[in-house]
Amino acid sequence: MTGRRPTSRAASGDGAGSRTAGRSESGDAAARLAASFGFEEVAPPEKSGRVRAVFDSVAGRYDLMNDIMSMGVHRLWKEAMLDWLAPRAGRRYLDLAGGTGDVAERLLDRVGGRAAVVLADINVSMLEVGRDRALDRGWPGAVRFLAADAQQLPFADAQFDACTMAFGIRNVTHVDRALAEIRRVLAPGGRFLCLEFSRLVLPGLERLYDAYSLSVLPVMGRIVAGDASSYRYLAESIRRFPDQDTFAGMIRRAGFEQVRHRNLSGGIAAIHSGWRL
Ligand SMILES: C[S@@+](CC[C@H](N)C(=O)[O-])C[C@H]1O[C@@H](n2cnc3c(N)ncnc32)[C@H](O)[C@@H]1O
Repeated sequence: MTGRRPTSRAASGDGAGSRTAGRSESGDAAARLAASFGFEEVAPPEKSGRVRAVFDSVAGRYDLMNDIMSMGVHRLWKEAMLDWLAPRAGRRYLDLAGGTGDVAERLLDRVGGRAAVVLADINVSMLEVGRDRALDRGWPGAVRFLAADAQQLPFADAQFDACTMAFGIRNVTHVDRALAEIRRVLAPGGRFLCLEFSRLVLPGLERLYDAYSLSVLPVMGRIVAGDASSYRYLAESIRRFPDQDTFAGMIRRAGFEQVRHRNLSGGIAAIHSGWRL
C-alpha cells in the first residue's frame, strides 16, 4: 500500500467531498465528455484522433507553454498532488497520461529514485520528449516509458500501489472506462490521485479567467507553439469538464472509496483522491 490511509482530516473533506452528484449525473457527464472535443460535438470514435493531433502538435513546446501560461503555478499544483500522495520508497507507481514526465520526475526525486515508476501515455511524441528529458537531466532511479491508452491498460490486475494522473483525464474519450481500468490495476489499499482543471469557487474571477483562457491562451499558443487551435481546445475542454462534485461522483461510480477533493488556486484546478479498498 502506498501513501497515507485516509486520515480523519482527509475524511472531513478539505474540498467539501460532497456526495451530491448522483449516479445518473455522473453517467451523463461521462457521455457528454465522450462526445465533445472542446466546444465541438464529435462522434466518440473521432475524439481520440483529434486529441492525439493536439499533443503531436504541441509536444516540443509543451513544457515551455505550461510554464508561460500558468506563470509556473502548474509546478505548485503538481507538488501539492505529490504532497497529498506522500510517495514512499519501494512502492509501485503509475503516472498515467504522464506526457513529458513532470510528475514522474518529481515523484522519483521525492523518494531518491527508490520506487518503480511507469509513465504511460497514449502519445508517442509526448513520451519521446519525456524520455529525452529524463536522459538529459539524469533522473534519479529508473522510469519505464510506455505507450498505452488509459481506457485499456496493458497491465495485469493489482499491479500498482498508486496511480497519479495530471491534466490527462479531461482528454480521455471514455472517462468511465479509464477510471475502471485505473481501479483494476491498483492493488487493494491503492490510491488514485487526479489533478485536473476544475470549476472556480471564488466569486468574481470568472470574467477575468474566461478572457484569459478563451482569448489570451490561443494567442500565446500561436506565438510560442505555433498553434492557436490546440490551446483553444485546451481552454474549451476545461469548460466541458465536470465540476468537482460531479467528477467525484464519477470516481465513486467507478468503485473508488473515500473520495475527496482539494481545490487549488480558487478552483482553477482540483486534486481528487480515491482509494481502492
Ligand atoms: C495536458 S497533458 C498532461 C501531461 C502531464 N501529465 C503533465 O501534467 O504535464 C495530457 C496528456 O494526456 C495524454 N492522453 C490523452 N488521452 C489519453 C489516453 N486515452 N490514455 C493515456 N494518455 C492520454 C496526452 O497524450 C497528453 O500527454
